[in-house]
Amino acid sequence: MDLMKISSVEFAGAAAQPGGYPKLPHPEIAFAGRSNVGKSSLINRLLDRQIARTSSTPGRTRQVNFFVVNNTLTFVDLPGYGYAQVSKQERGQWQKLIEEYLTHSRNLRGVVIIVDIRRGLEEEEEALCDFLSHHQRPFLLVATKCDKLKRAQVEQQRKTLTAQLDGHPLLLFSAQDGSGKEELWNELLAVIAHKPSSSHAHA
Ligand code: GTP
Ligand code: MG
Repeated sequence: MDLMKISSVEFAGAAAQPGGYPKLPHPEIAFAGRSNVGKSSLINRLLDRQIARTSSTPGRTRQVNFFVVNNTLTFVDLPGYGYAQVSKQERGQWQKLIEEYLTHSRNLRGVVIIVDIRRGLEEEEEALCDFLSHHQRPFLLVATKCDKLKRAQVEQQRKTLTAQLDGHPLLLFSAQDGSGKEELWNELLAVIAHKPSSSHAHA
């Protein structure tokens, strides 16, 4: 059963500069993770359409992209971090853009941190979790590309990641075969139903 019926998705704008966000009224869910991990593919799978641009080479998403779903909520596709091929200056700009969005968005209700099931959590993911905790932003972890591993290996990785996460929720996903989609939608709808507690957000 599909819990979320997608009747419309609109690209609502992109921000290349901190603060240059479209003014949208809906609660937002942001998708963060290292470059090429599969953020845009995961969004497309959740929305049943190819609306976010994907690529086999890292660094595809270079702006903060906003997609309004069913006129009720907004998905925010973030540029990836940790991509070594772009200049240090550009990486710094992306980081500023991502951090500014994550700290200041007034509508942001939760962040999905996406990791590759084969890599798990590394230094950057730990830093992002700490950053979001510090700013009192709810987040959940999704390990994607599960189709790349055998079932037993997925289970092994799930255990390893769960131990690292200290009770934080972890979901398994594959944009290729769609596994984990319903479970993730359930989590997202629960997050959206929850009223934000952040009084510090001002943008
Ligand atoms: P940037 O925008 O560059 O940071 O990348 P991204 O995180 O948005 O990744 P994107 O969705 O563009 O996917 C990167 C590559 O991984 C593409 O070649 C996708 O087809 C592939 N990919 C994404 N998700 C999956 C998955 O679940 N399974 C498999 N097998 N491949 C995937
Ligand atoms: Mg992308």
